[in-house]
Amino acid sequence: MKIDILTLFPEMFSPLNSSILKRATDSGILEFNIVNIRDFSLDKHKKCDDYPFGGGAGMLMSVQPLYDAIKSVKTENSKIIFPSPRGKVFNQKIAKGLSQFDHLIFVCGHYEGVDERIFELFDIEEISIGDYVLTGGELPSMVIIDTLSRFINGVISSESLENESFSNGLLEYPQYTRPAEFMGLKVPEVLLSGNHQEVDKWRKEESLKVTRKNRQDLL
Ligand code: ADE
Repeated sequence: MKIDILTLFPEMFSPLNSSILKRATDSGILEFNIVNIRDFSLDKHKKCDDYPFGGGAGMLMSVQPLYDAIKSVKTENSKIIFPSPRGKVFNQKIAKGLSQFDHLIFVCGHYEGVDERIFELFDIEEISIGDYVLTGGELPSMVIIDTLSRFINGVISSESLENESFSNGLLEYPQYTRPAEFMGLKVPEVLLSGNHQEVDKWRKEESLKVTRKNRQDLL
């Protein structure tokens, strides 16, 4: 999958170059291209923002640099995403859907918003990562990219996807690794028993317990 990221702050995207996402780019499963929107400004000072017509707080991103930046990367099959608190709320299902595309374009807003005409010029999906407001679309873009990447074949093992929170509608059960005892705290006996049926049963019960405690709405 190719992912273009249009931003005024390219330096914010260094986290994409570590850990699992780095492995995925090294192996050619993912390809990131960070585009500086400022490079497309026709203003002599490379300005990309301006005051809102009608007044109001803060500045808006101007339509021209955004339009040209999108034009420079868009193809017939591109899916364009604009992270925004105004969008539909992101979840695993949306992430899985996005992972099916060959080409995604993330447009990162900043300041108080963008000139609305950009949504008339292109088919853009607005996605929110939750009911709170961040300073820009860069962190939400990375959250969405990280989440959808896990659904792409070869990025993580399919077993990891099957046994995690939300995969069966519940939150994930507690897990333990060696040592079997630490500071007097013992790993639950059943996990050391070698009895897979009992282990599965215990995990299901624990999943239910943690879901009941933290997320009644999922039950
Ligand atoms: N930009 C600012 N706040 C946001 C949010 N909650 N989700 C997505 N993009 C945003």
